[in-house]
Amino acid sequence: MLTKVKSFGLNGLDGYLVDVEVDVSAGMPSYDIVGLGDTAIKESKFRVKSAIRNSLYQFPIDKVTINLAPADTKKEGSLYDLAIAVGILVCQGVLDKNKVKEFAYVGELSLDGSIKKVNGILPILITAKELGIKKVIVPKENAFEASYIENIEAYCCSNIIELVEYLQGLREIEKIEYKRFEDIKQINKGQDDFKYVKGQALAKRALEISASGGHNCIMVGPPGSGKSMLAKCLPSILPDLTFEEALEVTKIHSIAGVLDANVGIITNRPFRSPHHTTTTPALVGGGRTAKPGEISLSHNGVLFLDEFPEYPRTAIETLRQPLEDSKISISRVQQTIEYPANVMLIASMNPCPCGYYGQGPNKCKCTPSQIIKYRNKLSGPIMDRIDLHVEVDGVNYSDLTSREYEESSESIKARVEKARNIQLKRFANDKNFCNAKMNNEQIKKYCKLDEDGEDILKMAFEVYDLSARAYSRILKVARTIADLDNSENILVEHLTEALQYRNLDKKDGEDIC
Ligand SMILES: Nc1ncnc2c1ncn2[C@@H]1O[C@H](COP(=O)(O)OP(=O)(O)OP(=O)(O)O)[C@@H](O)[C@H]1O
Ligand SMILES: [Mg+2]
Ligand SMILES: [Zn+2]
Repeated sequence: MLTKVKSFGLNGLDGYLVDVEVDVSAGMPSYDIVGLGDTAIKESKFRVKSAIRNSLYQFPIDKVTINLAPADTKKEGSLYDLAIAVGILVCQGVLDKNKVKEFAYVGELSLDGSIKKVNGILPILITAKELGIKKVIVPKENAFEASYIENIEAYCCSNIIELVEYLQGLREIEKIEYKRFEDIKQINKGQDDFKYVKGQALAKRALEISASGGHNCIMVGPPGSGKSMLAKCLPSILPDLTFEEALEVTKIHSIAGVLDANVGIITNRPFRSPHHTTTTPALVGGGRTAKPGEISLSHNGVLFLDEFPEYPRTAIETLRQPLEDSKISISRVQQTIEYPANVMLIASMNPCPCGYYGQGPNKCKCTPSQIIKYRNKLSGPIMDRIDLHVEVDGVNYSDLTSREYEESSESIKARVEKARNIQLKRFANDKNFCNAKMNNEQIKKYCKLDEDGEDILKMAFEVYDLSARAYSRILKVARTIADLDNSENILVEHLTEALQYRNLDKKDGEDIC
């Protein structure tokens, strides 16, 4: 007997339909899966067999052949276990073919017949909906994640017996209730707040600009000046995630297998801070299964690289392409996978190896060549991609001991949201959502300077020997500053403020010695 059961596979960020064909026919007893599977699929064979037997159903003693179509796509993982088991049970006469056809099935089986959680349920359900599939059975542990897709009936159960009895009409299983994103989003609660950071007005202002326009920023300062603390406060002023953005972020986390099963959807902008001992594949993605890396897990949010020069040079350099294109391509044996990587890079570093350069006479113990070597760990092309360079000096005693609260994140966030709304209107017909992502044509259109502005920029370009990229980044930052000021035109004061954040562009060692 031949039967066909619907299931899904994953390719990068998207799901695709897989037809699981099960054929049980008379002949020498055998059990094969064909259709380009990897080791996980071979293992699946044995899991399915044990799961069926341990649920006290009979496994066929005839010739069993399973084909996963389309056969030319490399299939990985354990997503198809459940569909294979269902197909076999149809061939065994336990389940009715027509009833089984009403659903698609996704889930991993364990040897005792329980249905285990899989990665990627969210993208799978989005694909199912696009393909017009109305009903899907998913593992119970994935129920939260499955509850945010409207107009699809997702059911969950925890073992084969439950599913079989449901399909036989002997019992009910849980239908997953649709939840509205608006009802569950917990907006930036309990995070670090700028009101606890004393002084540091310049750094706070730079981070406000970053958050408003989606700009990359690097903070340079001595140990203990509060760089890490400032960065950790950044999420509290970022604009709220929209549902579409949340879905994109959740898809990536779901595929990477790092989604919290009790939440199911990501409601806050990601803030990822991988340690500097992290490997290049962990940072940009890769490995055997081409998993998304930290830069994609930070999509629509912040990638914070603390102690920036300590990261391996190769890891830093591989960030160049995704920082420019907001996406990353990962090559593997048979294909190239592309993941989104629209991030704000926030980095921090000390000004020199000992950390105290510029903090008063005799404090720094480094030689000029040590300082140059340290700064040169960050190549020109990388620094060029960072829009705001800000010096964070040690906080002074009276600021630190002041009993006054500083401005709260809530009130800064209100300004950020306003500036973002101006950008949303500006780019209503374009694909980008913030000033930092403007292309050359948009820069030309939206970043016009008056004559004085042109003169100032020309002078800065020559004095600092700026690159063409730095030039356009200055204009983008100036645009954001003007938006924060609710000004339609970029005024000289906006431009000069933007220029002030390029101090690491000075030629190597110019201000050293
Ligand atoms: N401006 C500040 N206001 C209040 N507390 C501060 C401030 N700056 C630093 N601190 C205190 O000092 C601690 C250390 O700061 P933080 O770790 O952010 O410094 P850092 O600049 O990242 O140093 P390093 O270069 O050594 O990493 C903070 O946890 C905080 O308690
Ligand atoms: Mg730090
Ligand atoms: Zn030093």
